[in-house]
Amino acid sequence: MENFEYCNPTRLIFGKDVVNGLADVLRPLGKKVLLAYGGGSIKRSGLYDKVRELLKDFEIFELCGIEPNPKYDPSVLEGVRICKEEGIDVILSVGGGSVLDCCKAIAGGAKYVGETWDVIIGKAETKAALPIVDIMTLAATGSEYDWGGVISRTETNDKLCYMHPMLAPVCSFLDPTYTFTVNAKHTAAGVADAFNHILEQYFTSPNSFVTDGICETLLKSLMKYAPIALREPDNYEARAEIMYACTFGCNGSLALGAGIANWPMHSIEHALSAYYDITHGEGLAMITPNWMKQVLNEKTLHRFVKYGINVFGISSNQPDMDIANKAIIKTADFFKSLGIPMSLREVGIDESRLGEMAHHISLEGLDNPAFFAPLSEAEILEILKATL
Ligand code: NZQ
Ligand code: ZN
Repeated sequence: MENFEYCNPTRLIFGKDVVNGLADVLRPLGKKVLLAYGGGSIKRSGLYDKVRELLKDFEIFELCGIEPNPKYDPSVLEGVRICKEEGIDVILSVGGGSVLDCCKAIAGGAKYVGETWDVIIGKAETKAALPIVDIMTLAATGSEYDWGGVISRTETNDKLCYMHPMLAPVCSFLDPTYTFTVNAKHTAAGVADAFNHILEQYFTSPNSFVTDGICETLLKSLMKYAPIALREPDNYEARAEIMYACTFGCNGSLALGAGIANWPMHSIEHALSAYYDITHGEGLAMITPNWMKQVLNEKTLHRFVKYGINVFGISSNQPDMDIANKAIIKTADFFKSLGIPMSLREVGIDESRLGEMAHHISLEGLDNPAFFAPLSEAEILEILKATL
């Protein structure tokens, strides 16, 4: 097993009605709150009114209209402006991963005197950040329990991950009932995102038996409960199990004791959603089986075999390569069964910019020989072409 050090400072408060404790958590952090949310789902569900009522003793400033694949301009810039001008003490994110990621960039930008983009890309050091509290309304990203946020800059086709320990939320409220209203498309995309987060960390080498077991259980939980949540959107147990699994997907704990997890499928998908603004989880679902086919070889085979046997229950009584290929087919079948579009053309992407995207992705250095499955620019292009 590899050495590791791990610290996650975020307090998780999970379950029905936990949001009632919001004021108690916010009070020590200050009086002036930036309430950030998306395009209106929290108003339709009644959560907005509830939050305003709970925070009637606080001074509230609002940032609304944060879009999926949150944009640097206008959302991050506008949030930083409000925080600086109004002297905001704490940011409250109410929504999905996009709202929370936007808040993370605002938190870093608000404490920096220069251009916020410089802290996002690491050109300037993040030395301080405003505290963040969140109420998650969509199970997917795990942003509620990690210290990264993904921000898009439209004019340069960049979608970049801004990471810093100070961006970890102080507290995340996770009430599965607030995910009842998530539609089938985003429920499925959220599950696919979390499923992929686990795979990004499972397909590494060397590995830890303990971590492998946790990953396999999380994957099986998502496979068991996603169809139930799609069939019965207000099934509490299904929404709760999914939310729990998603929360643990992205904070690095699933790679403890294992080799480097360099998240190649995420690098590829982030280019797709930067260039075409598609839904992140859908992009991942269609890339995953094609990435698997591309990287399956004698060296990586053992991981596919373990995955096939332990996650899908494929019989071990057959050649390893057969087990691996069956596991890849079952992975694609699972995503298809959730109703996710499984080709680029279905989400409006044609071949015209595949080469440009492959080049853009290759600049992240996915060909490092230390990785589980290094990818050259040509191989990235192969994966994109196979996904057409
Ligand atoms: O904007 P509103 O009106 O709130 O609607 C949203 C949005 O249209 C809607 N929604 C959210 N909660 C709802 C709801 N609709 C009904 N009922 C509810 N309770 O769902 C739509 C999608 O929301 P979004 O926040 O974009 O989804 P998600 O949570 O999947 O976040 C996706 C973003 O997170 C990034 C992705 O790249 C993408 O930009 N990621 C962040 C990560 C992180 N911070 O750790 C890791 C991930 O790998 C990922 O890259
Ligand atoms: Zn993701």
